[in-house]
Amino acid sequence: MPEQVKYDTLKPTGNKIPLVGFGTARIPPEETEEVVYNAIKSGYRMIDGAYLYGNEKEVGKGVRRAIADGIVKREDLFIVGKLWNNFHSAKHVAPIFEKTLDNYEFDYIDLYLVHWPVPSEYIDPKEFLGFCPKGQDLKWERSPMQDCWRELEKLVDAGKIKNIGISNFNCQLILDLLTYARIHPSVLEIELHPYLQQKRLVKWAKKENIHVIAYASLGNMVYDEVPENLKNVPKLMEHETVTKIAKKHNRNPGQILLRWAVQQKITVVPKSVKESRMKSNLDVFCFELDDEDMKDLESLNINARFNDLVENMYGFELPIFE
Ligand SMILES: NC(=O)c1ccc[n+]([C@@H]2O[C@H](COP(=O)([O-])OP(=O)(O)OC[C@H]3O[C@@H](n4cnc5c(N)ncnc54)[C@H](OP(=O)(O)O)[C@@H]3O)[C@@H](O)[C@H]2O)c1
Repeated sequence: MPEQVKYDTLKPTGNKIPLVGFGTARIPPEETEEVVYNAIKSGYRMIDGAYLYGNEKEVGKGVRRAIADGIVKREDLFIVGKLWNNFHSAKHVAPIFEKTLDNYEFDYIDLYLVHWPVPSEYIDPKEFLGFCPKGQDLKWERSPMQDCWRELEKLVDAGKIKNIGISNFNCQLILDLLTYARIHPSVLEIELHPYLQQKRLVKWAKKENIHVIAYASLGNMVYDEVPENLKNVPKLMEHETVTKIAKKHNRNPGQILLRWAVQQKITVVPKSVKESRMKSNLDVFCFELDDEDMKDLESLNINARFNDLVENMYGFELPIFE
């Protein structure tokens, strides 16, 4: 097994968060239980789930099987869930959270994030089809984040959520949230890799005691359809700077990209259904990038956001990052 996962401390609660967790987006439900079980067996202690991913039940099964087999205890795991856009209004927050808790079959979760700052018209969970089905207009609704946050705070008070946080929020939205939050956000989860470093946002979040989780740490791996202006950007995993550093340390490019974030105390949540990749993605604690490596990787920043809310990816335009 790779050297043990290292942790950082979430300032608002003092809870420990692993610096490497396991992502569960795009894992077909029929494979999820086995994949999550194998991830825990490989040494992962954090699972990044979401209602959107449509596999919460199977994530729960995989986790509970690992616990039943004595691989891990519930208290040693850090389980994440996310509130989807259609459930931001005050009366829908608790019911959809309870659905997630039922799907997982846990008594509590460690972190619950507002997935996107996009309050969208309520949809019956039975008719839920994912983000916003292509060809349909995104219908936003008047659900202020302040009301949504109040409901999340009540769930923390009830002991059902240990930490609350946000994802895909910019500085302005977080700043506003900090003006009314009774319970401070523990985490900000954002797309982050050497092509999209957002150094000022990361620095500011840390200063405000908000831990950063990076998603898509391997860059443009999964995004087949990307914003028009990014179509010709070479795969980050194949960039010569990354492969050169990988060779120097006798590691693979994935490990270099993950180590780059972890070395800055940013949590990563790589997803892989393949056990060999799962293991190598976790194995980033027994080597260090030197100043020259970090500088070389820093020079790759081109502010390339691959997971943007643009027409050719999601079927609608919403310039939330502009
Ligand atoms: N908060 C948000 O809005 C948000 C958005 C996107 C993602 N996320 C979270 O972040 C997680 C990770 O992001 P992601 O899934 O988009 O991207 P990622 O983890 O950066 O990349 C995953 C892809 O890379 C492949 N891969 C994994 N490790 C590899 C390696 N060592 N070498 C070569 N290929 C490798 C995987 O294929 P195989 O499975 O075939 O190995 C998969 O296709 C998600 O699963 C999800 O939990 C959150």
